[in-house]
Amino acid sequence: MSGIKLLSLPKIVDKRGNLSFIENLEHIPFEIQRVYWIYDVPSGEKRGGHAFIKQQEYIVALSGSFDVVTDDGENSTTTSLNRSYNGIYIPNGIWRELNNFSTNSVALILSSTQYNLNDYIRDYNEFLIFKSDVQK
Ligand code: TYD
Repeated sequence: MSGIKLLSLPKIVDKRGNLSFIENLEHIPFEIQRVYWIYDVPSGEKRGGHAFIKQQEYIVALSGSFDVVTDDGENSTTTSLNRSYNGIYIPNGIWRELNNFSTNSVALILSSTQYNLNDYIRDYNEFLIFKSDVQK
């Protein structure tokens, strides 16, 4: 059980243009401490490639599309995000990478923590050791 899940947001369809929203603790299962976004990604580039010890996150493609590769230490899954009302919830302790960005895509990331360099695991073997320690 990795706990990764697709969570869709409210979508208010309107002929003037659609609208979606996120309310704290209402649409995602954690309190939002930080919001950041990734944009202007050159073709073929990747972001992420690490795990978080404590941080949970919710990622949505506000514009364009990209893939989110998640790995719980046993299974790797690729999820394509291409709607501004469909995102992925990733609990802590998951290795993840964002790749295959389309031109002009924007990845919005909501985080359960403030930025903390010490929360990152950037080495995949270290991640596997962390996962086996957690299971003990
Ligand atoms: P990082 O999370 O390492 O990006 P990625 O994993 O996608 O390669 O962040 C890149 C840089 O941005 C790093 O120097 C730290 C800085 N940063 C902040 O200062 N605050 C933040 O909230 C984030 C996400 C990054």
